[in-house]
Amino acid sequence: MARIVAGVATSHVPAIGAALDNGKTQEPYWQRVFAGYEESKKWIAEVKPDVCIVVFNDHATAFSVDIVPTFALGCAAEFAPADEGWGPRPVPTVHGHPELAAHIAQSVILDEFDLTIVNNMEVDHGLTVPLSLMFGQPEEWPCKIIPLAVNVVLFPPPTGKRCFDLGAAIRRAVDSYPEDLKVVIFGTGGMSHQISGPRAGLINSDFDKAFLDGMSHDPQKIIKLKHVEYMREAGAEGIEMVMWLVMRGALDEHVHERYRFYTVPASNTAVGHLILENEGLAAAAE
Ligand code: DHB
Ligand code: FE
Repeated sequence: MARIVAGVATSHVPAIGAALDNGKTQEPYWQRVFAGYEESKKWIAEVKPDVCIVVFNDHATAFSVDIVPTFALGCAAEFAPADEGWGPRPVPTVHGHPELAAHIAQSVILDEFDLTIVNNMEVDHGLTVPLSLMFGQPEEWPCKIIPLAVNVVLFPPPTGKRCFDLGAAIRRAVDSYPEDLKVVIFGTGGMSHQISGPRAGLINSDFDKAFLDGMSHDPQKIIKLKHVEYMREAGAEGIEMVMWLVMRGALDEHVHERYRFYTVPASNTAVGHLILENEGLAAAAE
């Protein structure tokens, strides 16, 4: 049986990718950020997932404003790193898992969540930066990746509750896949940040830390947050945090918080990171 064993949440700041790609990780500013992922890299190397489902947002890269799907599941065999204006990042091509992705699409859509099926998509920093933070700079990514793109760029994004409920439907889909596969789900983006307008540079650590607590201990509280509350408290781009709730909805009601990291800032963004384990994995580790 396929099983979701854990969830990873992490910010996806593009400058983190640029720091890695340009050999700046030892500069004090960046060292502070990368040091927070050392434990996580060891953790994921030990867990050795077969597949990671990466919930991310496309930043008007693969999808122009011509077509903006709310939830788009990558069902292709490969996803190339996108050129966001400086050439594609020098990272490996992402290899998908078309069979599991097709199964998830079928299960989730018949479960009344109307996903868009995507058979051709380049992936931008929203997906590649979290992979770099968790896996470093390998020749090939060490597992299959199923991208799930969520619209948080054009109003209205889905609500936090809708994201959480979709996560639960993804869990049911994975649980009903017959092959033995160890699956980790990533929720990416966030934390508080605003990159344009009069409030550019806004960071709200109190809000972020309460959100991290909610992810671990009280998801029912944070799924009630309204768009306007994310905007007001966490900045215009803080809405990216609804993607963390897809991940949370795919986990057990009670999870083991394996790891937490928070630092301010990286570029314009507060960097938050969590590893949450389902009971089975936490028990196996004891
Ligand atoms: C920044 C953060 C983002 O989430 C993004 O998509 C682009 C830029 C930033 O902090 O610079
Ligand atoms: Fe972003």
